[in-house]
Amino acid sequence: MDAIFERHSVRSFSDRPVSDEDIRRIVSAGCAAPSSKNDQPWKIVIVRQPRLSAMAYEFYRIAADLPSDRRGTVMETFSIMGSAPVCIFVFLEKNSRSRRFLAHVQSVGAFIENMAIEAQSLGLGSLWCGDILEVDEEAAEILGTSIAPVAALLIGYEKGESRRKVHKVPEDLIIEGYDEWGSR
Ligand SMILES: Cc1cc2nc3c(=O)[nH]c(=O)nc-3n(C[C@H](O)[C@H](O)[C@H](O)COP(=O)(O)O)c2cc1C
Repeated sequence: MDAIFERHSVRSFSDRPVSDEDIRRIVSAGCAAPSSKNDQPWKIVIVRQPRLSAMAYEFYRIAADLPSDRRGTVMETFSIMGSAPVCIFVFLEKNSRSRRFLAHVQSVGAFIENMAIEAQSLGLGSLWCGDILEVDEEAAEILGTSIAPVAALLIGYEKGESRRKVHKVPEDLIIEGYDEWGSR
């Protein structure tokens, strides 16, 4: 599946609108993800322009007041959000006190990755934004939701070309003492 290898983080989006049909298809791909005990513990809110730009600006202003050790890439992420045509905010219905919380976190990761790959296969780009966690409570208030988002996925057509990140190869992953391909 080439889309897996072609997917990369897009940080510059063109103004070209994204069709409702494509967004529906992308979310359907998320729905096809595996989840622990088939819980499907995810919910979404979809925000488009021009509302997204106003919202991203609010997040940006809140991020500007974060202590410097937490600010990192956060302001840059919200500035990119402001120029993306569509944002899918993702919520996890299970709380962190649940014994199986790590399983739910894995499930929601599969949901988001499925959407990113489907976007790629439709010729769209995406950016997975974990920086929303830095303003999560304020984001819930701004979005008008009873729970805070755990991630946001920006979707749109890529403008220009981005520099590709270096990814590890299988040989880099094997824990020392184990044969590369599992034959011992
Ligand atoms: C859980 C998660 C959170 C991320 N959060 C952000 C973010 O807030 N801002 C951002 O610019 N990129 C974010 N990224 C994108 C990563 O920086 C990117 O996936 C990584 O550098 C590898 O690059 P690639 O996606 O182009 O392969 C996030 C990725 C993941 C999986």
